Parts: sequence; C-alpha cells; structure tokens
Amino acid sequence: MSMVPMQAVKVFEVGPRDGLQNERQPLSVAARVGLIGELAGTGLRHIEAGAFVSPRWVPQMAGSDEVLRQLPSNDGVSYTALVPNRQGFEAAQRAGCREVAVFAAASEAFSRNNINCSIDESFERFTPVLRAANEASIRVRGYVSCVLGCPFSGAVAPEAVAKVARRLYELGCYEISLGDTIGAGGPDETAQLFELCARQLPVAALAGHFHDTWGMAIANVHAALAQGVRTFDSSVAGLGGCPYSPGASGNVATEDLLYLLHGLGYSTGVDLEAVAQVGVRISAQLGTANRSRAGLALAARSAREH
Ligand code: HMG
Ligand code: MG
Repeated sequence: MSMVPMQAVKVFEVGPRDGLQNERQPLSVAARVGLIGELAGTGLRHIEAGAFVSPRWVPQMAGSDEVLRQLPSNDGVSYTALVPNRQGFEAAQRAGCREVAVFAAASEAFSRNNINCSIDESFERFTPVLRAANEASIRVRGYVSCVLGCPFSGAVAPEAVAKVARRLYELGCYEISLGDTIGAGGPDETAQLFELCARQLPVAALAGHFHDTWGMAIANVHAALAQGVRTFDSSVAGLGGCPYSPGASGNVATEDLLYLLHGLGYSTGVDLEAVAQVGVRISAQLGTANRSRAGLALAARSAREH
C-alpha cells in the first residue's frame, strides 16, 4: 500500500497579541501568561505573545516584557512579539525574545495611522532592528498590512504589496505574513495576490493573515492554500482586530482554521478540541462572544454528550 505523506501546515497563533490588543477589557500579565500556556499545551508551536509598542497607543499590550519573561524558554515553542523600532527591539531582547516581528504596510495612510511614519521611514526604522537581530541570532518575521484594502485610502494595488513584501524579505525577514487587516478581500483577490507575490519571493516564505470582517477569512485561507501557502496566522476564538483599523474584526479563528486544514488532510500537530476548550474559556473570561464557528459546534456537541 502506498502511503501519501500528509502535508504539514504551520499554524501561527496570534490571539494573545492581535486578539487581545483589540479587546475592550485588558488582561493582566498573569492572565495573558495563563492563556499562552494553555495554547502551548494544545500543540501550537508558534505563538505571538505580545508587542513592544507604545503603551499609550496600545494599552492592552503594556507589560509585554513581563509576559515574555515569564514564558518558558525550553518548551519547543517559539514565542514572538511585535517590535516597531529599535527601542521595541531592545526591550524584546532584554525580555529574552528569540523571535520578533516588524510590521510594515502596503498603504501610506495606514502606515501613518498605525506607526506614525511613512513606508520608507518604517524601513529606516527596521534596518537597524534587522542588523541587531542578526548579530544576536534573533529571527525576524515581517508583516505587511492592508494587502487587500486600506481602511483610510481604499483599494491597494497587489504590486504595492509585493514590493513591500520583497523589501522585508531582502532586509532579512525569514517569513512575510500578508495581512488583510480589514478583512476586505475575497478568495479571487487573495489567489491573485499570492500568485503575484510567489513570483517575487519563495512561496515557502509567505504566510496568510486574514481578518474575518466580512466572513471571507476561511475562504481566503483556502484560496491561499491552492497557491501553495503553508503558513497561516489565526486567533483562538477569533479574538481581536486592529486598534488602528476602524471596523475591522478579529483574525480567522484558530479552531476554524484547524477544522478546515484537518478536513483537507493537512497535518498541523495541534489538537483542535483542546484549542476549542481554550476558546470557550477565554471568551468567558473576556465576556465576549466566541467567534469560532467550529469552536461553538464542538462546545455544543460536547454539551449534548455530557
Ligand atoms: P511615535 O510617537 O512616532 O514614536 O510612535 P517616537 O519615536 O516619536 O516616540 C514617542 C514616544 O513613544 C516616546 O515616549 C518614546 O519613548 C515612545 P515619550 O518620550 O513621549 O514618553 N516609544 C516607545 N514606547 C514603547 N515601545 C516602543 C516605543 N517607541 C517609541 N517601541 C510607535 C511610534 C511605533 C512607537 C507608535 O506609533 C506605536 O506604538 N504604534 C503602535 C502600533 C501597533 O501596535 N499597532 C497594532 C499592531 S499592527 C497590526 O495589528 C497589524 C497586523 O496584525 C497585521 C494585519 O492585520 O495587517 C500585524
Ligand atoms: Mg492583524
């Protein structure tokens, strides 16, 4: 009997950062460390745990240094954090981060609103971060925001996205996550965008980061999979959004992503039912609705069985 090996997909959990940064109720350091520990217990191996940004801009991420310090350093999980500039990078380094992420935008208006500088200026800030990270053997991921539309300036050309993605890659980012910040895109635009970007940089270095404002996030994952993308960002229970993108909602839920991937025969190493339990618990703690359809379905099934 011939065995076709299962293809692996990397799931990059961003709930403790992208999720919590936009929840009305800030969680304490202890609660965040608790959530991250629970997520690590489900088999997730890539968890974005905080952001070294101005607490005046994003109060929910204050204390990220304490969060990162309290996480284990030898459990096989890569805990990452956002850094917008040298100051953030140095704080992340002091907190023991082995991986950080810089974040750029494909739209000038979003760059200005999110990090208070132009796209070119953001690259001037990232260059010394990449240099210092390289010297310290700290891996750097790169994000591009507004890849399928900008909340301030509307349509964004795929060529503009590919240009920023390539700049981040050439600067030394090992992976470039393309963010549909406002969840404005659909699967056809997603396929076209990833096809274009995969002609300009290795598809293995691309990740999909879809917000679910219009319910298209899981369809966009499916479209990106068909283009050969094998890394996706997601948030447990579909938490969050982005504080600087008006009207945007949370990321695709990790539970929904896992349900899709496992159903298609991809391996992830993550226990869907365990993530669903974390999703139910964190939604209750935040007092918000659980925005994972698969999470709700699993919770309803286990309620029927018990
Ligand atoms: P700025 O005002 O231009 O910075 O903000 P500055 O260099 O002029 O400094 C002003 C003050 O900020 C100073 O303090 C600095 O010390 C401080 P003061 O002297 O006035 O007391 N400062 C910092 N404090 C803490 N950490 C730092 C830091 N840098 C300077 N790293 C800055 C520039 C980037 C800091 C600010 O605009 C900021 O923090 N923005 C937050 C952006 C953010 O976190 N957005 C959400 C995450 S991005 C996202 O969600 C999208 C993504 O999910 C992908 C997608 O969906 O598209 C990734
Ligand atoms: Mg995001």
